[in-house]
Amino acid sequence: MRMQDLIEKKRDRKELTRDEIAFLIRGYTRDEIPDYQMAAWLMAGFLNGLTESETQALVEEMLYSGVVLTHDHIHEPKVDKHSTGGVGDKTSLVIAPVAAACGVAVPMISGRALAHTGGTLDKLEAIPGFRTDLSLIEFKAVLKRCGLALIGQTKEIAPADRKLYALRDLTATVPFRPFMCASIMSKKLAEGIDGLVLDVKTGNGAFMREYEDARKLAEMMASLGRRMGKRIVALITDMNQPLGRWVGNAVETMEAIETLQGDLESDFAGLCLELAAQMIVVGEIEIDMNRARSRARNAITSGGALERFRYCIEAQGGDPRVLDDPKLLPQARRASTIIADRTGYVTGIETGEIGRVVMDWGGGRRCLEGAIDYSVGLYIHAKLGDRVKIGDPIITAHYNDESRLDEMQRRLRSAYRVEEAAPHLEPLIKTII
Ligand code: URA
Repeated sequence: MRMQDLIEKKRDRKELTRDEIAFLIRGYTRDEIPDYQMAAWLMAGFLNGLTESETQALVEEMLYSGVVLTHDHIHEPKVDKHSTGGVGDKTSLVIAPVAAACGVAVPMISGRALAHTGGTLDKLEAIPGFRTDLSLIEFKAVLKRCGLALIGQTKEIAPADRKLYALRDLTATVPFRPFMCASIMSKKLAEGIDGLVLDVKTGNGAFMREYEDARKLAEMMASLGRRMGKRIVALITDMNQPLGRWVGNAVETMEAIETLQGDLESDFAGLCLELAAQMIVVGEIEIDMNRARSRARNAITSGGALERFRYCIEAQGGDPRVLDDPKLLPQARRASTIIADRTGYVTGIETGEIGRVVMDWGGGRRCLEGAIDYSVGLYIHAKLGDRVKIGDPIITAHYNDESRLDEMQRRLRSAYRVEEAAPHLEPLIKTII
């Protein structure tokens, strides 16, 4: 088989066989196929599409390019959650301990900040000492001891995706459903899970801005996972404004801790309870969603979930005192509040831009190994539909780099639209598949 023939086939809109996809992925993972040929094939696929059976083959080949974990020593149902990425989305830090406290084992392999969206690993690493680079043996041991373990993708897990993701990032081939589906599902299925809850974001802060694209991605991932024998639920949720009140790393960790301590009033807490309840049902701990919701809520009000998080932080080398004293998390030196310059209702928030401001002010990386300022963050005073008067606070920025203050204030102010008429508000959870 020759790679140029497979590029030609995709260029001419023909379907690749299972063996051809295997040749492609195995050859690329073993460095036998160069980046320039793979890049050409990726772009041909992006432009001409992939069939269902090509996508299925891609997922399976990427999954088996590395280790697929098993957890025979753990008798609880193994269920994870994956979000396609958003702004202010710190749900993993809450739902993993909640689900664990309810009898679900959560083997979570997470990612870092990507484009304007934050990453669970960066939020966890804001906790002094917290290690997300456990070996797979350590990962399994923490999972057994605490009921949850939270790490980054190791070199053994879906190595084909590690290589391909970097190439897609450089060749403008990330936002394509079959590639996203293969990338996400290969990593998640390698965790050794029985079931998965998918949170597919849609809106101006999501990769899939349009609802229909998000729905098709959710359906593609759900049916693929089910065909592979996993119990899957997919939620399509709104990302037309940041989730919760804080956007950043340490500040989001703090907000997650407050939620675990019992602050359940926010949109963020509501989504956490719903996702955790779905994990409890997917794990077959409960069959009824209302009972699962009240179990999830009890895990928080009883303090059980917070204790789970404490064990996990300790087991992964972090300082658990952050749970009692959030000031131990990195703190920004300066704060500045942006106020409303007109009276009316908040009718639009450019969510992607809010995320980019945090990234550009130091909260994200410029390159893969770059340093990150965990303390930078934004507090969202005004959410969609809120009525504001001239002079009311909209956002408080917590930052260190004073030289960019004017630019950031300008960008944040123009990310807000305030109008006379109240907007129609979308539900946070739009669809469950
Ligand atoms: N997250 C992933 O892991 N892969 C993608 O392709 C997009 C988001």
